[in-house]
Amino acid sequence: MELIILFGFIVGVVLFIFSSAFSAIPFYPTHRRDLAQIIRKMKLKNDHIIVDLGAGSGTVIFAAADEAHKKGLNTEFVAIDINFLLVVYMYIKAQFHPHKAHIHIMQGDLFKMDYEKMIQPFKHATFYMYAVPWLANALAQLVVDINKPAQILSYYYPVSILKQKDKLSGEHEVFEYEVK
Ligand SMILES: C[S@@+](CC[C@H](N)C(=O)[O-])C[C@H]1O[C@@H](n2cnc3c(N)ncnc32)[C@H](O)[C@@H]1O
Repeated sequence: MELIILFGFIVGVVLFIFSSAFSAIPFYPTHRRDLAQIIRKMKLKNDHIIVDLGAGSGTVIFAAADEAHKKGLNTEFVAIDINFLLVVYMYIKAQFHPHKAHIHIMQGDLFKMDYEKMIQPFKHATFYMYAVPWLANALAQLVVDINKPAQILSYYYPVSILKQKDKLSGEHEVFEYEVK
């Protein structure tokens, strides 16, 4: 029995390491104490899609979905991550979420998604990102390339290719941008 548990643990660790090894952005969740102000800044509404570019364990997506559900909104949430284990974790968690019909968990490379198609049916779009300093611009560029109005919230790291609209201070800073 112990051997099976040990084997399962080793397979889990190997899977986790390998699925993160190919990613240039390591997994760190957004600080829980910053969630309330991040969600306020999203200004959740109907016909609004929130996309987390590298959603990790879904800290932001699930907290924002709680809020949308409480307010009776139809806000849609998309959590993208390359890490298979994190995706499985989020998928299971989503099944028990009251807003589950509006939560989509996607496994894949955030640099290879069709965001134009993803946000096309919605009136409003917000992209949340918590990356690494040298990739913050590349992630923002994905949003700029859609050529549609969108809000970008970048946790911890500023984006230099866009004009900053606002900045929140908490455990870490959150930078807001508006793509027109
Ligand atoms: C710093 S964590 C942020 C997690 C979450 N957004 C949060 O704020 O709590 C970055 C996440 O991006 C994911 N990631 C890294 N490279 C990726 C890629 N190319 N495509 C999709 N996800 C990626 C990692 O697996 C990790 O979970």
